[in-house]
Amino acid sequence: MDIESLLREWDGEDVFLHHDALTGAFIIVAIHSTRRGPAAGGTRMKTYPDLTSAVQDALRLAGGMTFKFAAADFAMGGGKAVIALPPSFDTRERTGLLKRYGALIKQLGGLYYTGPDVGTSSADMDIIAETGAPYVFARTPLAGGAGDSGPITGLGVYHALRATCEELDGNPSLAGRHVLIQGIGSVGWTLAGLLKDAGAEVSFSDIRPEAAEQGKSIGLRWVPAEELYSTRCDIFAPCALGGILNAQTIPQLNCRAVAGAANNQLATPGDADRLLARSILYAPDYICNLGGAMGITGIEALGWTREQAEARVAAAVTQTLREVFALSRAQGISTDRAARRIVERRMEKGRDVQGA
Ligand code: PHE
Repeated sequence: MDIESLLREWDGEDVFLHHDALTGAFIIVAIHSTRRGPAAGGTRMKTYPDLTSAVQDALRLAGGMTFKFAAADFAMGGGKAVIALPPSFDTRERTGLLKRYGALIKQLGGLYYTGPDVGTSSADMDIIAETGAPYVFARTPLAGGAGDSGPITGLGVYHALRATCEELDGNPSLAGRHVLIQGIGSVGWTLAGLLKDAGAEVSFSDIRPEAAEQGKSIGLRWVPAEELYSTRCDIFAPCALGGILNAQTIPQLNCRAVAGAANNQLATPGDADRLLARSILYAPDYICNLGGAMGITGIEALGWTREQAEARVAAAVTQTLREVFALSRAQGISTDRAARRIVERRMEKGRDVQGA
């Protein structure tokens, strides 16, 4: 796929592309939908094989944000930014790049609100906000923000796993269940802790060598990358990058359900049907992981306390997943299709509310 066809086929509103001549980085800001409110979504910063894959990632991630906020029934639209770093990026250039990125957000004048994502942190949000304020979520508490979005995202994913267990056999408890987590980064790590506390057996895999020791130190069982998909478990929880549920991996899976934090887990929409055909229950990613976006923006933009945010995230994830599973069961359609129907209905409602 080339950039031209990606843009032509995209169902979003706007895409901004900026070349940062000083570092050679590309910044892509994708505005998927402002129908329910200003477009919000995190900033992903990493190297990509080429510009086309960076644009593709930004477009898909932005669409996911629209779904997430609509699933949460929240008055916010979907957008996402990707900072595609050159392969030879000098980390001393990082602060300057983030400030120039902040200036770009400022220029957009409230069309796009950002937050952290893979490769960026709350400390980075502080730097971006120096020029990009007030359109930046999840700054550090010292800078007046609600801090890291990982823990509240992880809490939401934990409730997604409970709702998934409930759908599997009527019992939401995770005690005695075997969960395999792919990636113990900021969200996977929180999830692992909550699962241990709930009495689950937790295994994990991570491509970062230092993560192996970190996970083992809290009693998680390490699974080598080559055994990841075929390891027998109750729930497989992808908490790393997207595209991992595909024609190669789905036939290998040895689990009853998939529920995790990674965005865009399905490589193609057809992969949801592949899971259905294998009777593997799939909890759509953008519902499992809506806790960060909903919780942090709720605290910062709507003045929720942390306790209110946690309760609302838990309720939104649980209720939406229950609805999705029920519709999927009743109509014999994949959970992905069911979730899209439910979210589209909420989007229509958003249009009425705003009279657009
Ligand atoms: N990374 C978050 C997500 O994918 C985005 C986000 C975090 C947006 C915090 C706003 C605030 O959902």
